[in-house]
Amino acid sequence: MADGIWEAVDRYFLDTIVGQDAALAEAQRAAEAAGLPPISVTAAQGKLLHLLVRIHGARRVLEVGTLAGYSTIWMARALPPGGTLISLEYEPRHAEVARANLDRAGVSGVVEIRVGAALETLPSLEGPFDLVFIDADKENNPGYFQWALRLSRPGGVIVVDNVVRGGKVADPASADADALGVRRMVDLIAAERQVAATAIQTVGGKSYDGFLLAVVNG
Ligand code: SAH
Ligand code: DHB
Ligand code: MG
Repeated sequence: MADGIWEAVDRYFLDTIVGQDAALAEAQRAAEAAGLPPISVTAAQGKLLHLLVRIHGARRVLEVGTLAGYSTIWMARALPPGGTLISLEYEPRHAEVARANLDRAGVSGVVEIRVGAALETLPSLEGPFDLVFIDADKENNPGYFQWALRLSRPGGVIVVDNVVRGGKVADPASADADALGVRRMVDLIAAERQVAATAIQTVGGKSYDGFLLAVVNG
């Protein structure tokens, strides 16, 4: 099936129930103007993250992989008064674009971006977090997931983006580094009795991919 229909359906729900205000649309424009890769979550996925933060009543959120702050804005806007979000980003240029986007969206007061390789900044963080969204370099997913587990409260939610990648995750012939990173993370989760997890395949503006959802027992 062509991606065209998936995009049209994403657009239909964006225009009807998902909604996206000027600041979110501007965040995407600013990212494009700055030459950042067009790999943020779709509006529908951003809204899902927003709803998960609300449903879970999350007050402390951690994000790995900020890019232009698009997913960051969706989640930050779901925080209750006093809630905070820390987002980790390797590229100073991305962090700079994100900070301007967060400002325009009115959430810079509740979001802190820490620049550096996430595996180096994660050890300096103090948990517990209520929800962690992992969306950076996929080959480091096993390490990110282990840190997310360590930094989560019992009952904490962990979401991992891009775990399907056009089906590569389940293709034994694929030597794609990203797919291997996802698979090593999945093996780790499969062996971990402290989490309950599932993965959902998605189509849409970002073609065929999927996300993983886990909750830390406790
Ligand atoms: N969550 C964003 C998209 C993130 S794209 C959204 O949906 O809007 C992935 C981001 O991870 C990129 O900005 C990339 O620079 C960053 N990244 C790559 N390697 C990283 C690392 N080792 N540590 C932290 N961030 C990294
Ligand atoms: C890529 C990264 C993402 O986080 C994403 O949602 C899509 C693609 C990438 O690195 O290609
Ligand atoms: Mg992603």
